[in-house]
Amino acid sequence: MPVVDTGFSVLSEDFAAAPSRHFAWLREHAPVHYEPAIDSYFLSRYEDVRRVLTDHEAFSTATLQVRAEPVMRGPVLAQMTGAEHTAKRRIVVRAFTGPALQDQMRVIHATAAELMAPFLPLGRMDLVNDFGKPFALHVTLDVMGLDRRDWQQVAAWHSGVAEFITGMTLTPERRRHCIDCAEQLEAYLLPVIERRRRDPGEDLISKLCTAGSDGIAMSDRDVTALIINVLAAATEPADKTLALLFKHLIDHPEQLAQVRRDPDLLAAAIAETLRYTPPVQLIPRQAEEDTVFAGTTVPAGATVFCMIGAANRDPDAFTAPDTFDIHRPDLGTARSFTAAAQHLSFGTGLHQCVGTAFARAEIETVAAILLPLLDQVRHSPGSRYEEAGLYTRGPLALPLDFTPVR
Ligand code: HEM
Repeated sequence: MPVVDTGFSVLSEDFAAAPSRHFAWLREHAPVHYEPAIDSYFLSRYEDVRRVLTDHEAFSTATLQVRAEPVMRGPVLAQMTGAEHTAKRRIVVRAFTGPALQDQMRVIHATAAELMAPFLPLGRMDLVNDFGKPFALHVTLDVMGLDRRDWQQVAAWHSGVAEFITGMTLTPERRRHCIDCAEQLEAYLLPVIERRRRDPGEDLISKLCTAGSDGIAMSDRDVTALIINVLAAATEPADKTLALLFKHLIDHPEQLAQVRRDPDLLAAAIAETLRYTPPVQLIPRQAEEDTVFAGTTVPAGATVFCMIGAANRDPDAFTAPDTFDIHRPDLGTARSFTAAAQHLSFGTGLHQCVGTAFARAEIETVAAILLPLLDQVRHSPGSRYEEAGLYTRGPLALPLDFTPVR
């Protein structure tokens, strides 16, 4: 029988208000926390989380069949293994790295400038809703070759898809709404896929459609699932990371001043933001065999949630883990965006994020444009900072004031 920690729940309002306040207690007293309402285990120690994410025999991604496949309209990368996973992952990686990445950075520059322009003379902008969300979605639509004018519609469908994947206790009505969103997104994508099959370009959809030349013929269902997979995976964490980066720098003025003086420090600031407040807080897995963690057995078949936020603040992995410090020697900026990362914000092992290099380039580029423009940047007077989310987490809004740009 699992041990239930009476009085504590990751589903409580108290936990939702500020998860990081509970991380130390969890790691120390309930490192294998069982949540009866959703029959799932929550692991919070760094070593245990790393073990789950790298022991692919003992922990599979089978949970995604229920958690993601219905809204992705087919199998997603994280569900795949072996040759199929390697081959399909390679196509996606190619679209987000190397020469493709160089081209995308030019477009990212232009997109950032265009979206920011109306707010500069005002000296005020909500970095999440005015800029970050539309920016991250525009960028993803561009990489896919989808029409950026459709961004608001795609954003609405996407939020239904994301709610399904990240929701812990969805009502039947919300479930239906999420599936409706996914069906409409699929109906929007299918004619595009058909056109790209006939007349391919350089975009990601075309590359998936023509993957037959790489020896992997993909059906419309496969392409749709991968597109929705990348759309969901690429957009939300990027806009959350950008907002969190600015929040932490504004809250640590000395470090903000250092980054302003030396923009080469931006990569370290992004890596530390990811460690300190990972936008993807939970990664689910399914136990394939009985496994013992800290004296507690997680039974075969159980759903396990890796608590990335808690693991990244484990003192066994990082010195003074609750301090935001862009100079911390135990992070290693260069490796923070590779498979050798010490933080776990991109996951680790076979299913580590394929967008690490892209995410770094995207956020670094846009932050390097924003920082010199937003002179005297500060929280807007009277604004109350609020974060939300258990699975993915970030600011609901980030109203900022700065010196208006004439
Ligand atoms: C700061 C930004 C980002 C963060 C924090 C992040 C985080 C993550 C995490 C934690 C995983 C692992 C999931 C697991 O193990 O089950 C993952 C996987 C993935 N990410 Fe990202 N991601 C980011 C940006 C991106 C971008 C820009 C893309 C665009 C290509 C992307 C595409 C993917 C894909 C396709 C997977 C699945 C990989 C596989 O299963 O082989 N991500 N991401």
